[in-house]
Amino acid sequence: MAIRNIIKEGDEILRKKCRPVEVFDKRLWTLLDDMAETMYAADGVGLAASQVGVLKQVIVIDIGEGLIELINPVVISEEGKQTDLEGCLSFPKQYGMVTRPLKVKVKAFDRNGKKFFVEGSELLARALCHEIDHLKGIVFKDLTEEILEEEDE
Ligand code: NI
Repeated sequence: MAIRNIIKEGDEILRKKCRPVEVFDKRLWTLLDDMAETMYAADGVGLAASQVGVLKQVIVIDIGEGLIELINPVVISEEGKQTDLEGCLSFPKQYGMVTRPLKVKVKAFDRNGKKFFVEGSELLARALCHEIDHLKGIVFKDLTEEILEEEDE
């Protein structure tokens, strides 16, 4: 496993659409392992492959309840609304209020290519939507009116 470089604001890669994964091979598993390690090292709750420069529909999430790996994820239903402060590892020290669904159901594939469903509410719903947006080239700053910057210590 290896920690990969997280792409930061200004790089066009963050604006590109990711392609679906078609081959569930060792290369994909290495990507997933590296993404999880990178996310944990950066103290994040989610990471999309485009944030490490790989334009594939792959995300990892851990809101403190265990690692979830999602390949080719699609939101299939959503319910309610929640508005809260959101940030992103690609936009260090920037935060904004973002409205997201309160609950979502997502269809995805695991690292072996097996289809599964995950339902999330509150923070997990937020993380799922945020990371799935990354795969479409959408970042949280597109969804907020005001960016709050955290000052250097
Ligand atoms: Ni992000």
